[in-house]
Amino acid sequence: MSRKANKTAIKTPGGRIRPWLFEAFPQLRQRIPWTPIVNAPSPVHQLEHVSTRLGRDVWIKRDDKTSLHYGGNKPRKLEFILGDALAHGGRKIVTGGGLGTNHGLATAIFVQQMNFRVLLGLFPQPVTAHVRKNLLLFQAYGAEMAYIGSLLRAVFRYYVTERIRRRGAYFIDPGGSSPQGVLGYVDAGLELAMQVERNEMPLPAAIFLAVGTSGTMAGLVLGLRLAGLRTRVIGVQVAPRAFSSPKTVLRLTNKASSLIRHHDRSVPELELTFEDVPVDRSHYGQGYGHLTDAGRASLRLMAEAEGITLDLTYTAKAFAALLDYLKTESDSKPILFWNTFNSVDLSSVANSVDFRSLPNAFHRFFEGEVANTIGQVG
Ligand SMILES: Cc1ncc(COP(=O)(O)O)c(C=O)c1O
Repeated sequence: MSRKANKTAIKTPGGRIRPWLFEAFPQLRQRIPWTPIVNAPSPVHQLEHVSTRLGRDVWIKRDDKTSLHYGGNKPRKLEFILGDALAHGGRKIVTGGGLGTNHGLATAIFVQQMNFRVLLGLFPQPVTAHVRKNLLLFQAYGAEMAYIGSLLRAVFRYYVTERIRRRGAYFIDPGGSSPQGVLGYVDAGLELAMQVERNEMPLPAAIFLAVGTSGTMAGLVLGLRLAGLRTRVIGVQVAPRAFSSPKTVLRLTNKASSLIRHHDRSVPELELTFEDVPVDRSHYGQGYGHLTDAGRASLRLMAEAEGITLDLTYTAKAFAALLDYLKTESDSKPILFWNTFNSVDLSSVANSVDFRSLPNAFHRFFEGEVANTIGQVG
């Protein structure tokens, strides 16, 4: 065993073992670190009103409800990442992302519960109300914040400067898309297969989800294939191609597969190709965090028909792509929308923070007219 796993597994009320990955491959239990964060399984249900309106069978995976503290796709990744960090013994975490990074927020929240400290390196993105709210929340959850003026400089600081400055710290890849983080979605793929097996939902013909740093899609494809499901996963690009592309998805899928097989040779080696990881580029718009009309419309439809809140950076673009797909595909098989956006309302926590308590570099994002024009990725 290379490192000590801190928590091995937990029994769910249904008598099944979490993580599902260790239930499926018990040898991994003593070998891969993991710590419980997620309320699993997250629910699946039909989007009844959307299905009626469109005359199609559309389902949703409610990963917005993965935790009562903060939902979305990040808690799944953090079960394996923070498990690994605990096993390393470091109590200082370094990570980052765009100014409004959801990954940074989830990390700040769960790291605080473990009495760890986190430094968030933040680079520009269009400053929306959501971005401002997350900035206030980073502060509320005790994250140390550094504003880094460009993506390139952020990459240099993350991979070079901070590694020298903060020896012994645990570095989490942007978006939590390290091989460990990807395991969180391998686990989610196995979870969906279990729900299909229990007849909680029909086998979907296709699954739509947003692709930012690619880890979520990579894990999901691997998990579904390990469970023997051939369901087509269609990613929707929301970030620059360097992060969000079939090439990156496949690379991460292979890394996660190698990590699993390194610890358990009995896990089948899957021959995945670009065919398995299609990424729809048509809803990217002007760039990461830039809003699109189709995204606004899909967000409205989901809110009006189902009362479910999407976000304009990720999930609304993915749902817009699903709606386009339904216009062109004539077969009537069920389609699944994977909701990766947190639905826990943290407004009162954000409202309790005065932006002037943030480091000075962030004040301009809250002041006057400039608030909507600076911090753009371009
Ligand atoms: C709400 C939401 N959906 C989807 C994603 C994309 O996940 P990934 O970065 O693993 O591709 C993110 C990532 O930041 C996110 O915050």
